[in-house]
Amino acid sequence: MNSQDLRAVTWTEAEGDSAPALSLIDQTALPHTLERLAVTTVDGLVDAIVRLVVRGAPAIGAAGAYGVALAMAQAGREGWDRPRLDAEVARIREARPTAVNLMVCVDRVRPYIDKGLAAVLAEADAIVQEDLAANHAMGAHGADWLLNRVPAAADRPLRILTHCNTGALATAGWGTALGVIRELHARGRLETVYADETRPLLQGARLTAWELAQEGIPHYVQADGAAAGTILRGEVDAAIVGADRVAANGDTANKVGTVGIALACAHAGIPFVVAAPTTTVDLATATGDDIHIELRSGDEVLEWAGVRTAPAASRGYNPAFDVTPGSLVSALVTERGVLEVATGELPGTSDLHGV
Ligand code: MRU
Repeated sequence: MNSQDLRAVTWTEAEGDSAPALSLIDQTALPHTLERLAVTTVDGLVDAIVRLVVRGAPAIGAAGAYGVALAMAQAGREGWDRPRLDAEVARIREARPTAVNLMVCVDRVRPYIDKGLAAVLAEADAIVQEDLAANHAMGAHGADWLLNRVPAAADRPLRILTHCNTGALATAGWGTALGVIRELHARGRLETVYADETRPLLQGARLTAWELAQEGIPHYVQADGAAAGTILRGEVDAAIVGADRVAANGDTANKVGTVGIALACAHAGIPFVVAAPTTTVDLATATGDDIHIELRSGDEVLEWAGVRTAPAASRGYNPAFDVTPGSLVSALVTERGVLEVATGELPGTSDLHGV
């Protein structure tokens, strides 16, 4: 299967004695095995979100939306009253704190509970279709912007650095930053991709590289610590990443390591671009200081493949995300167009939620 046709999150109707399920590509098993996990309970879904079986802001948003249907089905089987159902839906909504998409999608679907399972599923399906369309629109806007703004594009295909995984696996399909990269490749305007391996769970080395390899897109995997040097040596024309939450002033939370890339791009004078659907823009959050950064288990950095690598006395510090100041974001690519954040064209209600 072409990786752009992947669907990380799909709903499976009940059949015979089996309960309806949320079918998730198990992103912890890639690239060695492409297998799906069928989740039938709220506990199972929360565990899958926390363990990064399903990950990436738009994908966990979709999982949260279908999660409301999952909770309703479990409520029916187990005889939960409405307060219990509401509490279980709240647990899904809070499974990870940084990506605003999870909260936005659960909140969008929740009012349909009173209308029944079919209405909830229809709204969750609509979220998925909208995300897919947004990603294709972002791909075109982002590729147009880069080809117009990067001087080297006049002479040769571009060398693009990316961080974490923002592809079909992280979204309803196609991808955000990786969607822009796919579009450049489809237009014959991409020379190569530098995919940062992405600590601590190697989302870049395992997932981005797998998606690129599936489509024969030339790429290198490099250590996160190599990114700044690669940029400062002039080997990169632009960096493009996704986002978990964009605050009203353009400050952007994304996978830990992103802010270092933005600083290196600023020093090198090359664009640092964020691609994110408007569902990731949180106008209720004023600045990056107000974004809750998920702190994960220190074991993820003290161990390697389940084997302790750091001394027994060491403590692990493992923030999953960091915040890049809006002043370092050259452009924010959304499905509605491109905002040049660093030069003062800040996201605003009319820009992002108007039209
Ligand atoms: O911890 P993860 O793998 O969920 O982090 C994902 C990222 O940081 C992505 O860059 C972001 O969610 C955008 S995905 C289109």
